[in-house]
Amino acid sequence: MMGYVHLIFLSTFLSVSMTSETFEAMEGEALVIKCPQWSSSVKFTWYHMDTSKIIPAEEEGSRVFSSKRFLWFLPTSREDSGNYTCVIHFSNNRTKSFDMSVHVHPYKRGICFPSQIRYPNDTGRGKIVCPTIDNYKNATIIQWYKDCKPLQGERYFKAEKYIFINNPRKEDDGYYTCRFIYTHKGNIFNVSATRIFISKEKHSPLPPQILFPKDKDVIEVELGAALSLKCQARLGIKKQPIAVVTWDVDNVPVRYLDFSRFNEKTNFFEGRAQEYYRETTLHINEIKKEDLQANFTCVAVNEMHNTKATVTLQLKAPREDTASAIEKMMQKSRRLIILLTQQLINCKESAYDQHIALYNALIQNDTKAILLEMETIGNYEKLQESLKFIIKQQGTIKWKEEHTVHPQSSNSRFWKQVRYHMPLTLKSSYPANAG
Ligand SMILES: *[C@@H]1O[C@H](CO)[C@@H](O)[C@H](O)[C@H]1NC(C)=O
Ligand SMILES: *[C@@H]1O[C@H](CO)[C@@H](O)[C@H](O)[C@H]1NC(C)=O
Ligand SMILES: *[C@@H]1O[C@H](CO)[C@@H](O)[C@H](O)[C@H]1NC(C)=O
Ligand SMILES: *[C@@H]1O[C@H](CO)[C@@H](O)[C@H](O)[C@H]1NC(C)=O
Ligand SMILES: *[C@@H]1O[C@H](CO)[C@@H](O)[C@H](O)[C@H]1NC(C)=O
Ligand SMILES: *[C@@H]1O[C@H](CO)[C@@H](O)[C@H](O)[C@H]1NC(C)=O
Repeated sequence: MMGYVHLIFLSTFLSVSMTSETFEAMEGEALVIKCPQWSSSVKFTWYHMDTSKIIPAEEEGSRVFSSKRFLWFLPTSREDSGNYTCVIHFSNNRTKSFDMSVHVHPYKRGICFPSQIRYPNDTGRGKIVCPTIDNYKNATIIQWYKDCKPLQGERYFKAEKYIFINNPRKEDDGYYTCRFIYTHKGNIFNVSATRIFISKEKHSPLPPQILFPKDKDVIEVELGAALSLKCQARLGIKKQPIAVVTWDVDNVPVRYLDFSRFNEKTNFFEGRAQEYYRETTLHINEIKKEDLQANFTCVAVNEMHNTKATVTLQLKAPREDTASAIEKMMQKSRRLIILLTQQLINCKESAYDQHIALYNALIQNDTKAILLEMETIGNYEKLQESLKFIIKQQGTIKWKEEHTVHPQSSNSRFWKQVRYHMPLTLKSSYPANAG
């Protein structure tokens, strides 16, 4: 019971203090600082930390005053530099306080901002928003400055709270100050706020290039199966304002097609040297017969150009047995090199298929076999009949064992023998009218 009471006692007086922000201000200007946290039902108290005095609400003629969440300096004076605290009183009697530091910089000719800039840098495409202006009701921007020199010219478009620089370049980087006026009870105050602008290097398009698929590619499919067709294109350096990579089916964009069968997803990424790529995948839920007649076209567009690549689908040839696949390959070859190893002899897997294929190739075609004995086989009893037959007829070419142990030792005899059994290579013929 006692512990419970004790806990309540503690929490009643619990106060959290946080050090937070620093405000850099110019002497003689209006300044408003904001307590970082806010909620509609809470009460605020502002203190000057050095004097521990509460800063009261506005009275007739007061220069520094509090107004709920805000502390006003109308205008600032050098002696305002120091630390201030805002205390938030919550309804459960808890409080939370924030310490804030104010530096007032003495006015100096030709200097329009304090050396430290507290507003975030603008690294955009040319829009620079005037900082803090939203804290002042009915403020009006009088002038923009770059590095304290008034900005003028057709490249600058001025709007209510920002300027816009047309096609910003490296030379546009710098300190941008907005000076606005704030009218309070008939008194006019200057306010200036400065932020750094860093131009983004401009993007540049490259002739769009589809990396895959290749135009006229034929893709093997199965009826009823799903299919994903990926198209990747390079569009330029850096993110492009116009960048489209999309799929058409018989010249109809996928977005107009039956959504339950076709849809596409796009993502983008930057590669080496900030090259900008987009990649769009067309998903087909279920391949139908009519898809085999269709043209699937990937279209890549940027502000410079457009390019296309068209692929078609064809049915996968029915799942061919190993023996006939091997045989087909053998038929296409003039020589068949067989490496005799212990592993081959002991390998039971697909031995039957290989046997049939080898037999057919040797019997039915004029393919010549070359047997390379990579390891000492000993007796050839375990070998397939067709291999034993060839060995009996022509023997094997033996890899010299010591070459494996001493790779530097010559094995030229082995290679000479291999070359001897290979077909003649045709030397490129001389031009017909030479000599
Ligand atoms: C404000 O507070 C900081 C530390 O919180 C202290 O270093 C600084 O001297 C104070 N400034 C003044 C003017 O008291
Ligand atoms: C807050 O403090 C006041 C005055 O000390 C007290 O009357 C009130 O009951 C307290 N409220 C809470 C929620 O503790
Ligand atoms: C803002 O830009 C200045 C000048 O380039 C740089 O020194 C500073 O670190 C930048 N600040 C931030 C928060 O990026
Ligand atoms: C806003 O300021 C302008 C001059 O800067 C003044 O003419 C106008 O009356 C002000 N409006 C309000 C609502 O205070
Ligand atoms: C505001 O600043 C301008 C330019 O620095 C100056 O001419 C003017 O007197 C200032 N106004 C006030 C009320 O301080
Ligand atoms: C597909 O493209 C080819 C070649 O451009 C064309 O001959 C054929 O008519 C096209 N098929 C369809 C269905 O559009």
